[in-house]
Amino acid sequence: MQRLDIGRVVWRDGSVRSLLFLIFLVGAVLPGSIYAVYALEFHPLAKYPGPLLGRLTQCYDLYHAFHGDKHVLLYRLHQKYGPIVRFSPNTISINDPVALKPIYAHGANVKKSIFYECFRAAPQAISTLLATNKTHHARKRRVMAQAFSAEALRGLEQYVLGRIEDLVERMNILLDQTQAEKSQSTVTLNMASYLNYLVFDIMGELVFGKSFGTLGDEPENRAAIRLLGRAARRNYTVAAMPALAQYGIEKYLPFLRGLYHDRAKYLAFGKGQNGLGESGRRDIFSYLLHAQQQDPETGTGIPMPGLFMEGNTLIVAGSDTSSTTMSAVMFYLLTKADAMSRLKHEVLSTFQNVEEICKGPKMQACSWLRACIDEAMRMSPAVAGLLPREVMEGGFGVSELDLFFPAGVQVVVEITRRQR
Ligand code: HEM
Repeated sequence: MQRLDIGRVVWRDGSVRSLLFLIFLVGAVLPGSIYAVYALEFHPLAKYPGPLLGRLTQCYDLYHAFHGDKHVLLYRLHQKYGPIVRFSPNTISINDPVALKPIYAHGANVKKSIFYECFRAAPQAISTLLATNKTHHARKRRVMAQAFSAEALRGLEQYVLGRIEDLVERMNILLDQTQAEKSQSTVTLNMASYLNYLVFDIMGELVFGKSFGTLGDEPENRAAIRLLGRAARRNYTVAAMPALAQYGIEKYLPFLRGLYHDRAKYLAFGKGQNGLGESGRRDIFSYLLHAQQQDPETGTGIPMPGLFMEGNTLIVAGSDTSSTTMSAVMFYLLTKADAMSRLKHEVLSTFQNVEEICKGPKMQACSWLRACIDEAMRMSPAVAGLLPREVMEGGFGVSELDLFFPAGVQVVVEITRRQR
């Protein structure tokens, strides 16, 4: 009681208040102000325009990555600020196709940024997609190239066709059921979901040598597709503020905790695939597994954590991208009757029967089919997110745009509709 009174006296006296204010000033306001002056005036990207919050803190990027509207945000920012925008303290977005080649070309003095490190299940779990060291990445590409050779892909085609048959069969069953139950001749199906199932099963075949069975007798595996989406969202979000992953902060944040746990479940699903590389087939995993001794330059293989990560990222890289593209192609064709009828004519006049529809010269001659796919990808790109590259020692310039960036900053090319 007495102590409280003494406290009150001291508080009223003002000395404690002054002390707390001083601590607040020295501990938070002063460093914050110094940082703000640095970020806005002296940072290597200080001269580029962008939203104030974005130039000051990664929280701005994090918020939009989490809400899933970063592509719309970038579109608006480029409309407002022009072709070069600093939307995060250390990152510049360039809305000009001229910058694409210089930045993403093989020999550019940039590397995949820390963004990709946030996708790894553990520091050593590095896949081709997630390798940020250029030498390391090149080595992984050499090994991966064996699994994607023309011969290897030819061997896998029958499994792709098998899963397409599963889809057709599943749709016929649903049609029959509906006809029997409701005497209706048409069925409404959410094709986006069915294409997800199709591609997920195909990826199981290609990567692990066995279908995930979501169109067949393992519908419970459809839950893994949801987890995959959640994992992708978690990755994209924490990559906007890498410290969240680096220091394990994400699992303590209420808005990220659910994503964190679902991503862990997705990783466990990938790891839990039995008999990896032992299907007796030349699936991608078996190429990677048996390539352990085969890197011609180093003679070393892919260590186990990297191998599992390779399987996991391949499923992510191939599933959503392909099913989104197929959904887009289907959507546009169903809304453009003339394009659809031209495609029908091309397919029916090229192939005599269903069995003939496979990779080869006849398929390659289907130029309208190819144009439909390319146009759908242009209008609804499956990878709408940014692909950040970090400038390496010595700096990096895009001479066509008269731009030069010092080492350490991140650059991305975000192509949105251009300003006139
Ligand atoms: C329409 C379908 C697809 C689209 C639009 C697409 C798009 C992309 C893009 C934009 C990248 C570059 C990523 C980056 O630099 O950050 C990439 C990389 C990659 N994709 Fe795909 N992808 C598709 C299908 C697939 C499939 C089916 C597979 C596997 C079977 C696959 C495996 C990979 C791998 C391994 C990489 C990393 C390559 C490297 O870093 O050298 N993708 N993809």
